[in-house]
Amino acid sequence: MRIYLDNAATTKVYPEVAKKVNEIFLKSYGNASSLHSVGREARSELVKAREEIAKFVGCDSKEIVFTSGGTESNNLAIRGLAPMNPDKKHIVTSVVEHPSVLETCKYMGKWGYEIDYVGVDSEGIVDVKEVEKLIRDDTLLVSVMHVNNEIGTVQPVEEIGKVCKKKGVYFHTDAVQGFSKVDLDLGNIDLMSVSGHKIGAPKGVGFLYVKNGTKISPILNGGGQENGLRSGTENVPGIVGLATALDVSVDKKKIKKSRDKIIAGLKKIKGVKINGSMKNRVYNNVNVSFYGIEGESLMLMLDKDGIYVSTGSACASTKLKESYVLKAIGAEELYVHGSIRMTLGEDVVGNEDFVVGKIEEKVNKLRKISPFKLELENE
Ligand SMILES: Cc1ncc(COP(=O)(O)O)c(C=O)c1O
Repeated sequence: MRIYLDNAATTKVYPEVAKKVNEIFLKSYGNASSLHSVGREARSELVKAREEIAKFVGCDSKEIVFTSGGTESNNLAIRGLAPMNPDKKHIVTSVVEHPSVLETCKYMGKWGYEIDYVGVDSEGIVDVKEVEKLIRDDTLLVSVMHVNNEIGTVQPVEEIGKVCKKKGVYFHTDAVQGFSKVDLDLGNIDLMSVSGHKIGAPKGVGFLYVKNGTKISPILNGGGQENGLRSGTENVPGIVGLATALDVSVDKKKIKKSRDKIIAGLKKIKGVKINGSMKNRVYNNVNVSFYGIEGESLMLMLDKDGIYVSTGSACASTKLKESYVLKAIGAEELYVHGSIRMTLGEDVVGNEDFVVGKIEEKVNKLRKISPFKLELENE
């Protein structure tokens, strides 16, 4: 049995998408800029996909700029605004953003930009009033993610957008983990990043929504594709795959029920904490910490039984790096190390008890060899 619970890392391409992408590879393989029939066929697929995606987003097709994915979209949003708005040298972001936002902001710091980081509460939620307080006359941009990739917290981005609009500041949201999962009104959002491989489309494709009128320049120069905003031959198969993925229906309610069943089961284990918000949480995220064990060991043990989860903390050489997101929500040290993230897909439905049972079995095994078990017993 294979239960893949790492859909926030990447998803399996939907069969419908794989079929369509294969068709494009084999039939409409032209360069969308070529003037002959093969090129024109590819262009027509590209135009159609752009329109379908724009319809799904609820925007003008000119507002969609195709990129290689979330990382590039975030870079384009942040780095692209800067040269067109040279008097604005201040950026506001949050402490729980994905590295593709945090590192890009850090990079902007090297070019004279001042960055302010808004904190989060114990559920991982940004305070809109804090964001408002940080906005200055020279603020170029506020960038706050839609849904957090580790703990699944949904941020109040529509309200942050309102504040930014009032203050005349650009607002960007990294919607890589939220797009198509949690509804979002783009009324007060100027820029939004999306990635295909998180939603059943291939890796290496995504887009940046750029509201009409936004002053932005490219970060990649060349042949002038994508209205001059993103040069490079368009990834027509990937783009068509992304449009096709949006047509596939996902039973969110069913997955949410599974998530709640798993959370209820996990809560019965001693020394456990569910991280994030129960109210403002994407339907498929479970992030859980077990006192006194190591998340990596748990992940590897589950792997042997065909259950694939991830850990919030990345293993850097010999040192275990802690999750900055869990630290930001104030999680205790001995819980932070024992965390795993499960991001569910439809294959979990009906297997909830099996998953919880396996986790409990492995946690018990690990606790037998943990130096912290006495403290746990005293809890
Ligand atoms: C919130 C968030 N932003 C950005 C990215 C980067 O997306 P991509 O892998 O398409 O570059 C990820 C990927 O994990 C993510 O979770």
